[in-house]
Amino acid sequence: MTRVIRGQTLSFPADGPPAHETRGAVVVGDDGAILWSGPHASLPPIFHQAETEDHGEMIVMPGFIDAHIHFPQYRMLAAPGKDLLDWLSRFTFPEESRYGDAAYAQQAADIFLDRLFRNGTTAALAFCSVHKVCAEVLFAAAEARGMALITGKTMMDRNAIPAVQDDPETGARESEELYTAWHGRDRLRYAVTPRFAVTSSEAQLRLAGDLVAALPGALMQTHLSESPGEIALVGRLFPWARDYTDVYDRFGLLGPRSLFAHGIHLSERECMRLSESGSTVVHCPTSNTFLGSGLMRMPHLGKPDRPVGMGIATDIGGGTSYSMLATMGEAYKVQMLAGYKPSAAELFRLATRGNAGRLGIGHETGAIEPGKFADLVVLDPQATPVLASRHELSNALEDVLFALMMLGDDRAVRATYVRGRKVHHRATA
Ligand code: GUN
Ligand code: ZN
Repeated sequence: MTRVIRGQTLSFPADGPPAHETRGAVVVGDDGAILWSGPHASLPPIFHQAETEDHGEMIVMPGFIDAHIHFPQYRMLAAPGKDLLDWLSRFTFPEESRYGDAAYAQQAADIFLDRLFRNGTTAALAFCSVHKVCAEVLFAAAEARGMALITGKTMMDRNAIPAVQDDPETGARESEELYTAWHGRDRLRYAVTPRFAVTSSEAQLRLAGDLVAALPGALMQTHLSESPGEIALVGRLFPWARDYTDVYDRFGLLGPRSLFAHGIHLSERECMRLSESGSTVVHCPTSNTFLGSGLMRMPHLGKPDRPVGMGIATDIGGGTSYSMLATMGEAYKVQMLAGYKPSAAELFRLATRGNAGRLGIGHETGAIEPGKFADLVVLDPQATPVLASRHELSNALEDVLFALMMLGDDRAVRATYVRGRKVHHRATA
């Protein structure tokens, strides 16, 4: 049944100012795709009789896309590690060891995906644990919800604990089996997922590179240049490498479908290679401040003569919030400390159209445009008392968005739609 969703519609074109209608409308067809959008006053007559949902003055915009999140860390936020490596060995590996159990993973997947919706996140690139069943369960749960989800079984064959390690051949075989079973099914895609250079042998990284070359359309996700201790360890484990990025480069893991979380301490040479190869660095600001990893500098990555593509993400559970609003707010603070002042529109664009493009799903989501799916979030700029009184001072869209990202979280998300279907509704803040 065709439906009309009304509200203050907002979407972020690749260039130029936001597309904004104070009294806008989005028409959604039977299959959940957007048929039309524009000012409600111009709604074509054929849609006049369609069922209408009116969100009044609230903002109706593309759902957020989380470009780096760990499903099996869904409940281990705020684990107080000394640094990344201590946090991984003390808290993370033991928690992830539970996900070999299908029943455990199943109840976790339901909580995890519903929590994304509650925060207005409609698509994600996620890590699973090392266990094949963990990825199977998450794929099935995402498919049942009609969402765009990209994930993969983590490959890790050393420097962890036995319960979360595989071996190169098993890791590669299971990854390929998962790709065959799930990649391209509905809105699902596979990502080859070597955890990071510390936990993969050279044999495993080589097989990961072979998989990326052999599996059409598969993405690749890993971590890169996050903490000083990690970088020093990678230097000891791969003494022949010029730098951390060179490790992945030697095994064919750079490229336009490769996403590297963090990228905080990258040299000029590394940025050059990431840029040339079309790779993406995903900024995870709440994780970086929480683990004390460092300040990722967007202007350094984005230098015009060798721009590195960027995304933005929560990195749950190193990150401290599921909310992409809070994540943008933290990105603003990190960039201010690094001497750069991003606009709210720039960060909102990054979290929607930008991430969609970097994840290779820009043709189906990330903007309010005919032909894309109606993956939408409805934001209330006055959701909390603090937001409401701040809103009294806002006199431009940029200011409204700025207050939302600095002060907002799941309480500002009034509704979430995936493929035109309402998957979350919040009565009041
Ligand atoms: N590096 C390797 N594994 C992880 C992880 O789970 N989280 C973060 N933040 N960094 C990592
Ligand atoms: Zn991560």
